[in-house]
Amino acid sequence: MLRNFTHRIAGLKGDWTMASFRQEMVAKIRAQVGDGKVICGLSGGVDSSVAAVLIHEAIGDQLTCVFVDTGLLRHNEAEQVVTMFRDHYNIPLIHVDAGDLFLGELAGVSDPETKRKTIGRLFIDVFDKESAKIEGAAFLAQGTLYPDVIESVSARGGPSAVIKSHHNVGGLPDYMKLKLVEPLRELFKDEVRALGVELGLPPAFVGRHPFPGPGLAIRIPGEITREKVAVLQQADAIYLDEIRKASLYDSIWQAFAVLLPVKTVGVMGDARTYEDVLALRAVTSTDGMTADFFEFPWDVLGRCATRIINEVRGVNRVVYDVTSKPPGTIEWE
Ligand code: XMP
Repeated sequence: MLRNFTHRIAGLKGDWTMASFRQEMVAKIRAQVGDGKVICGLSGGVDSSVAAVLIHEAIGDQLTCVFVDTGLLRHNEAEQVVTMFRDHYNIPLIHVDAGDLFLGELAGVSDPETKRKTIGRLFIDVFDKESAKIEGAAFLAQGTLYPDVIESVSARGGPSAVIKSHHNVGGLPDYMKLKLVEPLRELFKDEVRALGVELGLPPAFVGRHPFPGPGLAIRIPGEITREKVAVLQQADAIYLDEIRKASLYDSIWQAFAVLLPVKTVGVMGDARTYEDVLALRAVTSTDGMTADFFEFPWDVLGRCATRIINEVRGVNRVVYDVTSKPPGTIEWE
């Protein structure tokens, strides 16, 4: 019945493909930007990377990427981003190592929304400073996706529940005078991945799990310290390593560790320990709007827990989160 309506009555051809979206977007970006200069905020995630490569295809070296390294990325991720964009794609890239700034301002902050807002504000500040160095920059590109748009603003303009203030959607303060280029604004995650493959990005990179803009800050409930970030990075890397070894990575939408502000008693050798609890989270989803917890084989979870407790100093207990969304959200903050 639907096909009859769309194809026979409305006369649609059903010929939308990623290749045609790519062509259409390249033309749209060229039309919007003209010979203006564009700055693209790279986060290290799939979305901003796909946006950058698409925009680079459209306007070449009119694009400069700014990678604000918040110090809150996964283990080794900053190095990977720099290598890929600067060396592999030859995209002009400014790498700002702002870890000290972010961690400094976040010291003593434990409220989730204040954390997000602080990170969002610093991000904009750093951008402001960097964009001022790029003479004549008129546009700012972002890898905003459709679910970000829906969850952060009311589609009808009325008051609606803002679940989390995604810092990458709020836009820019007026004084920056940069116009936004958001080529992925109407796409869902799976479509962004298909576009990334269409653009020739390595499938393993494009298939990476989504990673939130505020990074590991929202995976450390309570106050953040450099030491906690280091512990979380190490535990997270082991967790993902075991998931890849078990060939489960691609069956999961997102898997990550959360470092809890709770200490429990344990025993190691003959000694009593009193250390942090780490929660493991893994969910399946198609768009991040709803999600189910992932049903791991027990042996895989067991291996993750054993390795984390043996290899990461400061963690003596590992638990698994079996909450779906709703009622939970995917991230813990
Ligand atoms: P929640 O936790 O809201 O997450 O169920 C849904 C998806 O959004 C990601 N997420 C964010 N992404 N900035 C981002 O760029 C944010 O502030 C943010 N908060 C959550 C989350 O990782 C999941 O993929």
